[in-house]
Amino acid sequence: MADSRGSQTGEATEAQIAVHWKEEEYIHPSQNFIAQANLADKSVMERFSEKNFPDCYAEYGNMLSWDTPWQKILDTSDPPFWKWFVGGKLNVSYNCIDRHLPKHKNKAALIFVAENEDEPSVAITYQELYSRVNEFAALLRDFAGLKTGDRVTIHMPMIPELTVAMLACARLGLIHSVVFGGFSGEACGLRAADSGSRVLIYSDSYYRGGKLIDHKASADIAVATAKREGHTVDKVLVWRRHLGSYGSAAPMMKGRDFFVDEVLKDFRGKKLPPVSMDAEAPLFLMYTSGTTGKPKGCQHRTGGYLAYVTGTSKYIEDIHPEDVYWCMADIGWITGHSYIVYGPLALAATSIIYEGVPNYPDAGRPWRIAERLDVNIFHTSPTAIRMLRKTGPEEPKKYNFQFKHMTTVGEPIEPEVWRWYYDVVGKRKAVIVDTWWQTENGGFLCSTKPALDPMKPGSAGPGVPGIYPVIYDENAQEMPAGSGRAGNICIRNPWPGIIQTIWGDRDRFVRQYYQKYCRNPQSKDWRDWPYFAGDGALLAADGYFRILGRVDDVINVAGHRLGTKEIESACLTISGVAEAAVVPVVDEIKGRMPEIYISLRPGTTASPQEMVDRVIRTIETMIGKIARPKTVHIVPDMPKTRSGKIMRRVLAAISNTMNIGDITTLANPDIVEQIRVQVQGKGPVVAKEGPEDVKQFGTVE
Ligand code: WTA
Repeated sequence: MADSRGSQTGEATEAQIAVHWKEEEYIHPSQNFIAQANLADKSVMERFSEKNFPDCYAEYGNMLSWDTPWQKILDTSDPPFWKWFVGGKLNVSYNCIDRHLPKHKNKAALIFVAENEDEPSVAITYQELYSRVNEFAALLRDFAGLKTGDRVTIHMPMIPELTVAMLACARLGLIHSVVFGGFSGEACGLRAADSGSRVLIYSDSYYRGGKLIDHKASADIAVATAKREGHTVDKVLVWRRHLGSYGSAAPMMKGRDFFVDEVLKDFRGKKLPPVSMDAEAPLFLMYTSGTTGKPKGCQHRTGGYLAYVTGTSKYIEDIHPEDVYWCMADIGWITGHSYIVYGPLALAATSIIYEGVPNYPDAGRPWRIAERLDVNIFHTSPTAIRMLRKTGPEEPKKYNFQFKHMTTVGEPIEPEVWRWYYDVVGKRKAVIVDTWWQTENGGFLCSTKPALDPMKPGSAGPGVPGIYPVIYDENAQEMPAGSGRAGNICIRNPWPGIIQTIWGDRDRFVRQYYQKYCRNPQSKDWRDWPYFAGDGALLAADGYFRILGRVDDVINVAGHRLGTKEIESACLTISGVAEAAVVPVVDEIKGRMPEIYISLRPGTTASPQEMVDRVIRTIETMIGKIARPKTVHIVPDMPKTRSGKIMRRVLAAISNTMNIGDITTLANPDIVEQIRVQVQGKGPVVAKEGPEDVKQFGTVE
């Protein structure tokens, strides 16, 4: 993208290395799907059209049970801090559990599938979930001393107790902050300190790739890290993966660490009334990477968030209470919050929680789970699809399952990969929705409406009902449909799922999402406040959006967001490292991965291999294995502008075998060829070039 921020500043962005796919043919949903769909009435677009905004969102609000009805659907008096369902009161755990009991108490709310295939799966009925959530809520209130509005950090793997913990927080109006289980203890500690959580909820261990992973050890690091940040954690509540045995080598610290199963004995059978919460009370925080080194706490609200995930789960995921729904994401990411826990449970669906990696013990595992539990809605990411296709392209054919609906989310999906998903996994009968959205958004922004719009491989589709996306260039000019040029995708209007703010940092919220395109900071009219998503996109003539990737310092690794600045900061803590630059590099399975360039301080005696090992170890400790780089290059110097700024754009071009472009303005242009030879080998450069403003990098196929 010639006009994206990256190329102007010398930064490297994902959107710059995006592939320019050709337009694909439409594929239509089957009559069978349409006949049973929740949303088959074409009038939806009229109902959710701009002339009916914001009242259209009453349709989602009305899917919930309110203790006190809202008085005003949208309050814009303090832009861009929109308020939704103002005056309304409700409880999220009531909406996800209690209200289903009269009709569905004996139906499975959750089915836990352990990674070990010999361990039987466990179905938890709505009644059982009700009991467990009440008991744990009583423990949080009466043993841990937590009160409405307190924050609680939860660092847990994919086990049902994670959902119990979240819903117990929601029952009391505690603000949960779930940290992805694969993040390190340090990452958890920083988030606990930022949110001011006095209590951590952990588990001792979990299975991943056939191994029992010691997880409690990371709690000790988290507490120590929080302490370094000046914050004291006074209780760590530890669930045990296997009752009666402790799967960690880390000692339990007396007076601080408690086994949940032991404490729960005192709360057996306890029932607590759900606390009636203001629609605008915060429900949870979810930390995500942004453009600076520090992750930011995205603060989601109670009423608007739940209404939005319920509405989109019903209309876009097509969830009915009788469906068996499996989203293979991790609950520690926003997809898991919205589309494993809150949306499906608000609709009384059966939601599957799978503990392990998709291809354990082999690439047939997901399809065996689908067959055994008769899953009919399946939700996953392009990375998982690529991996399952690569390791077991014929596997789905061996199992007797039939999805009616499938989702892809988190990264662009190559049309080739999309077709395998459609033909082999969906057996040409399931519809696919390619849903584009972000942690900050609560729920889907762009997607086809599964029974109403044809699918187009590689394109997310139009804005979902009530979302009016637009593409602006750097000068805030709207780029018309079919222009063939990429720009910044924005949402013109507020919607109920958007975050309220960044925890403790209102200025950052405004700066990050609204400053760029705000027409008038004094205006109280939402039309002057488009939301800047930070993604590059193209809008085709048919109104379908194709997302290219981030235009900022964020890399989407296997659908998980990582900040390049976070990784660079980690590298700079290593003695001997003088400079570090992180750029996105295309990866066949994970979509993108970080690639690291470091230069060393003079006099560093460690061997290159030792330095590479240190970089990898430091990143794993400070962030987590997920941020592991594809390659670490030790270079004699960084390409720099005359003012001393590292030209990451040049490094990204080298990493991705792209045209390096003009380097005459660099302070040290000679270093570029030296690094290129080091990274790419000595052969002649065959740089690939694409259309005017989207650099082509060849497909990942
Ligand atoms: C990317 C995940 C292409 C995008 C729900 C966005 C996608 C970032 C898609 C948010 C999609 C998400 N097609 N790209 N269907 N969905 N993205 O916050 O770059 O973890 O900005 O939320 O993922 O990642 P996050």
